[in-house]
Amino acid sequence: MTHVKIVEVGPRDGLQNEKQTVPLAVKIELIQRLAASGLLNIEAGAFVSPKWVPQMADSAEVLQALQLDGTVNYPVLVPNDKGLDAALAAGVREIAVFGAASEAFSQKNINASIAESLQRFELVMKRAVAANIRVRGYVSCVVGCPYEGAIAPRKVAEVASALYDMGCYEISLGDTIGVGTPDKVTAMLDAVSEQVPVAKLAGHFHDTYGMAIANIHTALQAGVRTFDSSVSGLGGCPYAKGASGNVATEDVVYLLHGLGYHTGVDMGRLVAASHYIAAALGRAPGSRLAHAWQG
Ligand code: HMG
Ligand code: MG
Repeated sequence: MTHVKIVEVGPRDGLQNEKQTVPLAVKIELIQRLAASGLLNIEAGAFVSPKWVPQMADSAEVLQALQLDGTVNYPVLVPNDKGLDAALAAGVREIAVFGAASEAFSQKNINASIAESLQRFELVMKRAVAANIRVRGYVSCVVGCPYEGAIAPRKVAEVASALYDMGCYEISLGDTIGVGTPDKVTAMLDAVSEQVPVAKLAGHFHDTYGMAIANIHTALQAGVRTFDSSVSGLGGCPYAKGASGNVATEDVVYLLHGLGYHTGVDMGRLVAASHYIAAALGRAPGSRLAHAWQG
């Protein structure tokens, strides 16, 4: 059975966008429940400026409660040298740098042009490699940008190949505001896979218009075998107005198992984690599956 890797981003991409402060203990319990469901890659936080994203300010404390040298991988976002210092001090094994295919989004999100951000990431990469830390690379706005509108596939390919060439082991392609439709995703993947092997690509689909599952199916057909998703469909991006949550992990797992792929995820435990975080946030789970699940 072909394996599909799921990168659970709820504790970072999801919780970074919550208006209410999520208590440290709830974050830790959520991550532990996700790990217990069989997810092997769980993005656990972000070493970004607490002035920009206050919800991630306790990422070091979150990591302290996790077993970082076990079978589960807990990557964190790192935008610059200062973030890397914090990540190294916390003992992480993997970080993710995050760039964009849109100039305007890059400025709003990390206060740097695309070219400046790539220079920063080169420095982070050199130090990370020296410290034996794996680096994942994100490209945001791979289909559309909240400020610039449609983004050319060629631009996405350019940024993705720059990240790949500097040493990112995997490039996650983010439809940050969920505007993608299968035809656009195909055009984008065609352009990117001319520069980066498709086996090194991940799909990161937000579900603003309900297109994420269709886009994942399209990306699967194009050969992508890694997808980012968020338990209970948590999330969005504080610097992308209108972005809704990532596609819900439960719904992705249902699709993948239905198509005969292996994920290693126990649906019952995942649904329980979805209910746990939804209850902590005072709302119903944000996946279709959690509502339909009969156990
Ligand atoms: P800046 O203001 O240009 O930074 O922000 P600076 O270097 O000028 O420093 C200003 C202050 O920030 C200084 O402190 C620094 O020490 C501090 P002060 O002297 O004023 O007290 N600082 C930091 N503090 C903690 N950690 C750091 C750090 N760096 C500087 N790493 C910066 C530039 C990149 C820091 C800022 O813009 C930032 O933190 N941005 C992050 C925004 C973010 O996290 N967005 C969400 C994640 S991206 C996303 O969600 C998309 C994704 O899911 C994919 C998709 O969906 O497309 C990944
Ligand atoms: Mg995202």
